[in-house]
Amino acid sequence: MGTDDQTNTCSFHMSGALPAGGDHLGGTFGQSPTLDSWYPQRLRVELLHRNGVDADPLGADFDYAAAFATIDFTTLKSDIKRLLTTSVDWWPADYGNYGPQMIRMAWHAAGTYRIADGRGGAGTAMQRFAPIGSWWDNGNTDKSRRLLQPIKHQYGNALSWADLMVLTGNCSLELMGLPTYGFGGGRLDAWEPDDGTWWGPEVWNPHAVASPDEMVSRDERWHGQNGDADYDLQSPLAASHQALIYVNPEGPYSNGDPLGSARDIRITFTRMAMNDEETVALIAGGHAFGKSHGQVPASDIGPSPEKAPIESMGLGWHNPVGTGSAEHTSTNGIEGSWTPTSRTCSRTTTSRRKARPARCSGHRLTRRRRRLRTPTYPVR
Ligand code: HEM
Repeated sequence: MGTDDQTNTCSFHMSGALPAGGDHLGGTFGQSPTLDSWYPQRLRVELLHRNGVDADPLGADFDYAAAFATIDFTTLKSDIKRLLTTSVDWWPADYGNYGPQMIRMAWHAAGTYRIADGRGGAGTAMQRFAPIGSWWDNGNTDKSRRLLQPIKHQYGNALSWADLMVLTGNCSLELMGLPTYGFGGGRLDAWEPDDGTWWGPEVWNPHAVASPDEMVSRDERWHGQNGDADYDLQSPLAASHQALIYVNPEGPYSNGDPLGSARDIRITFTRMAMNDEETVALIAGGHAFGKSHGQVPASDIGPSPEKAPIESMGLGWHNPVGTGSAEHTSTNGIEGSWTPTSRTCSRTTTSRRKARPARCSGHRLTRRRRRLRTPTYPVR
């Protein structure tokens, strides 16, 4: 070695800032690339012991059925209903009632279910974890769960998140005048994300997205075009797009085409085990409540919970405008309460993705008519 060589390779003391030598930290335990990166088709035997008993925070002896049976169900339901009409400052209720946003939360939990492999669904409260909780379509469902946290604390392990979320959907319907068929408890929470379920082939680079709606993609899951005879969605998927629960509200290619939407809805909901009648009842009925929120462009909304800094992961996408709630709330980018005239949409929109001209014929309305038809929001 020549005398001009400055590299410190001294064998009897560690060079550099790191305890085991060197200045630059590379990967850490479990970080990619891992075995899966090099051998994606390998047999993942570890999937057989997911949510293993040893790791169960409730302990091997915990009997959920017995714990659930201790609950005074009538009191629980009245506690939930009281919460639904008790508006809080950090997330004021639309029209003084949290029912609609809770119904959306409960349905987004159930709506990941697909019949082909039986995966998804509300059964283990996976909405609390990525990827599902960080899908763009689950924007602000984190607020619904945060609102429910006092009830969860009050009832503790006797009431799983999974049961609480579905029961709150039921209570919301009852509170708004709809009779329900009753409730069956017994959903055991998972305590870690399910990274075994296949949610479709599309991947985005979380470090290079300008806006969270860029995660919404259908680029690889379909064969053919909507309307073709051989149009087909990869099995076992049911959702038409990555990061959406059901279909794109703007139409298959964000083109506002109702017939194209109907085709995608029929495929999606059939794969969720629903016939046409049930599908119409659900979608039309579900949208008899609540509103759509779009006061801030998607590109201005902060990172998804999973990508947020660790101290704000539980709080979801940060909305930097105004209070970030109430009249400034932004969820999917379309603003306004539902109207019976869906083809002459009166919405104002701020999302870049939602702003494509073809998405809503209502954008051709004159400004005066639009002003008359765009609702105002006394309370949120
Ligand atoms: C084709 C399927 C569906 C699509 C494309 C869709 C789309 C949407 C969109 C875009 C919003 C506005 C979200 C926001 O900005 O806050 C919304 C809200 C809502 N959806 Fe759906 N939805 C579908 C199915 C359903 C179903 C099956 C239900 C329940 C049975 C449901 C219940 C609701 C409720 C209650 C709201 C209002 C939430 C609130 O007021 O905060 N949706 N939906």
